[in-house]
Amino acid sequence: MTVSSSTASPLAPDWLQVPADLNALHQPMWAGSVVRNGAGALTVGGVDVHALKEQFGTPLFVMDEADFRSRARAFKDSFDAAFADICGGVDVYYAGKSFLCTAVVKWVEEEGLRLDTASGGELAVAARAGIPGERVALHGNNKSDAEIHRALDMKLGRIVVDSLDELVRVGAIAQARGEQAKVMLRLTPGVHAHTHEFIATAHEDQKFGLSMAADTTAEAGVSAAEEAVAAASAHPGIELLGLHCHIGSQIFEPDGFALAAEKLLRFLAAMQGKYSITMPELDLGGGYGIAYTPVDTPRPAAEIATAMAAVVRSTCAELGIDAPRISIEPGRAIVGSTTFTLYEVGTLKTVRVDAPSGARGDAGNNVTYPRRYVSVDGGMSDNARPVLYDADYSAVLASRTSGAAPQLSRVVGKHCESGDIVVRDVYLPGDVAAGDLLAVPGTGAYCWALSSNYNYLARPGVVAVRDGSARLIVRGETEEDLLNRDMGA
Ligand SMILES: Cc1ncc(COP(=O)(O)O)c(C=O)c1O
Repeated sequence: MTVSSSTASPLAPDWLQVPADLNALHQPMWAGSVVRNGAGALTVGGVDVHALKEQFGTPLFVMDEADFRSRARAFKDSFDAAFADICGGVDVYYAGKSFLCTAVVKWVEEEGLRLDTASGGELAVAARAGIPGERVALHGNNKSDAEIHRALDMKLGRIVVDSLDELVRVGAIAQARGEQAKVMLRLTPGVHAHTHEFIATAHEDQKFGLSMAADTTAEAGVSAAEEAVAAASAHPGIELLGLHCHIGSQIFEPDGFALAAEKLLRFLAAMQGKYSITMPELDLGGGYGIAYTPVDTPRPAAEIATAMAAVVRSTCAELGIDAPRISIEPGRAIVGSTTFTLYEVGTLKTVRVDAPSGARGDAGNNVTYPRRYVSVDGGMSDNARPVLYDADYSAVLASRTSGAAPQLSRVVGKHCESGDIVVRDVYLPGDVAAGDLLAVPGTGAYCWALSSNYNYLARPGVVAVRDGSARLIVRGETEEDLLNRDMGA
């Protein structure tokens, strides 16, 4: 059903267009199987949102299993193809921090990927899922001794060491056990990704990684990264596999990844020459962007892979070194778009707002404009990203289509917090009413994983839908779950 477009609200941000058809789905934001059925309801994997609501309630994370598998395969296949002549393919470590449960670990493994973890808890999920330790990596800037022991117990394929302090601890623990820890060194290549400041991680003034900048105050004037290479390659408790970097998140342009790859390869070649060692592996991290709104333009995995392979190929040729085995760690780009959150609409209210100065349209003439608040039955406890990162999302009316005119809306949660915003600005049909279902796409990554019990809300379950049936892969919490850690005195 096509709704004639109306004028943009002066309250809307410049990037937000009034959709020509509010019922249409902007496909890059959605999992592959999401469509509207004949009755106008959203369906995923052949299951409609009314049935999901009936069986599992709301809020609910709804994941398209086939879509997850195909995005995972796309990374593996495209990077393998692009790097085949350089290093025989690429090891793809799914970044479990983005979303992790045992079902997902099994899919990852079945699709030929490996797993990147960041804590003892994530290792526990990996162990329960039965993935072999050699296919698992452990990250973290402050690993406990217990986590290091656990990594060694599980015979992990790699421990990514984040600091000189940690290098000493990992080496000592492994040596005391009569073992060698397989270590990658996480470096900060000083590449600034084009992304939100809070999630850019490759600059110097932050907690992650070993700096590649020469420390002029140190006696030898070498960088922390070089000190770590020298120490690791000489330590009997350490097998130095190679180098690692992660330049940030939600990055669209391949240039940043390519530049980081080049800087790390130059450093790797210099260190191999200086210390007469071979570092057989290089991990270029994750951070590939996805579409949260219609203006986001993610690149296909194959395009990124080709750009990165070109730089690795030419840099290794120029340096005259054998290319190390390349690995990457995508999280968001695999799981993000596989999932939408299904909410039920409750309270609605419309406020009148002065247009901000500089806003588009006829602002600035003392006229106020309507902004409708659409409250849903979840909020910042199931999606903290708008609060943490000012992240933008989108939403559609999921339970039906509508011919009503678009109305600028703000989707908010039910928490006692005025910043509890799920979707800051979106045009929804003017007749959205209590009891309607809304779907917010792109919530597969860093939403359930960052969820909380703020205001004693139960964390939602996660449902995987495939071939016409839906099953819980993580059950939602009950009131009993919420109360059973309270000791009562
Ligand atoms: C070391 C490391 N690798 C991979 C990732 C995954 O990033 P993304 O989900 O943006 O691909 C992260 C995310 O923070 C990270 O810190």
